[in-house]
Amino acid sequence: MPSSVRALIERATTAPEAWERLDRPSYRAEHVLGVSFNALGRARGPVVDVLHGTWLGHPLHPALTDVPIGSWTAALALDAVDLVGGGRRTPGLAAASRTCTAVGLLGAAASVVTGLADWQHTHEGARRVGLVHALMSTTATGLQLASWHQRRRGRTPRGRVLGLAGWAVVTASAALGGALTYRHGIGGDHADRSLAPRTFTDALPVAELRDGRPTRADVDGVRVVLLRDGAGRVRAFGEECPHLRGPLSEGWVTREGLVCPWHGSCFSTEDGSVVHGPATAPLPRFETRVLGGRVQVRRVPPVPGASPGSVTTLEQQREDEQEVPDARH
Ligand code: FES
Repeated sequence: MPSSVRALIERATTAPEAWERLDRPSYRAEHVLGVSFNALGRARGPVVDVLHGTWLGHPLHPALTDVPIGSWTAALALDAVDLVGGGRRTPGLAAASRTCTAVGLLGAAASVVTGLADWQHTHEGARRVGLVHALMSTTATGLQLASWHQRRRGRTPRGRVLGLAGWAVVTASAALGGALTYRHGIGGDHADRSLAPRTFTDALPVAELRDGRPTRADVDGVRVVLLRDGAGRVRAFGEECPHLRGPLSEGWVTREGLVCPWHGSCFSTEDGSVVHGPATAPLPRFETRVLGGRVQVRRVPPVPGASPGSVTTLEQQREDEQEVPDARH
């Protein structure tokens, strides 16, 4: 690709990051979204989890956007084939194109709702880019809706022009969606998934832990959150929230699990799996043991079939000390 085109795309996708005038409408939109979701009452949590893709283990929005983009591209291709054939050789093409436009509209509706659910947790530059992305996608959907309407009334040429315009706008909007994912990391997994420490490594004195209170430890440069329950069991997980790196040691423990202080993702204190979003990826897990009054941790390898993060109870401490005279491996 010529460098001038690359620079143009780069400028177009980064420019909205600096548009501070978008902040006011952004916060208003976020407020409206918050009120709307809260109006769902007890259904709010499950509904929002579905929209985030927590059940899927992957953000739902980017998967759904393929439906409108793919369907509207198919409609465009069918229009092109029909035009080349003069509309006579394959008379079913116009109907097929109209159907593709309709399928794209259904996908767009689902994409907008899931996108808004994800967008409300973004900040600053990403939030501004996300707002422009949402406005462009809504415009494209409006154009496609008008296209479908015109096609249904038999005004096929007008419907094709509107469909082409909608396709162009949604393609530009998709570029912003790509910037949100690849530049801003929205929808990505932000947890530290390195393999360190591979062997049991000293974290902190067990006396520093309080039952039910998340405690941070730096283990050879790896940030870990330690949890001790009422039975004296110590568990360890990655300290950075996979959603947007919220500090889990500043969160709190409920009956459901460990809650991130930033946007409320909740993770099981048993195995780090996601209980509630917006996070969709589980916490990295560590094995723990207590030796000589100090907690040691090592990474549970993230490979299929790996044993779950085992824990060593404080009651086993004496046993461990007898079996393993050296605290460090
Ligand atoms: S950073 Fe968003 S929920 Fe943790």
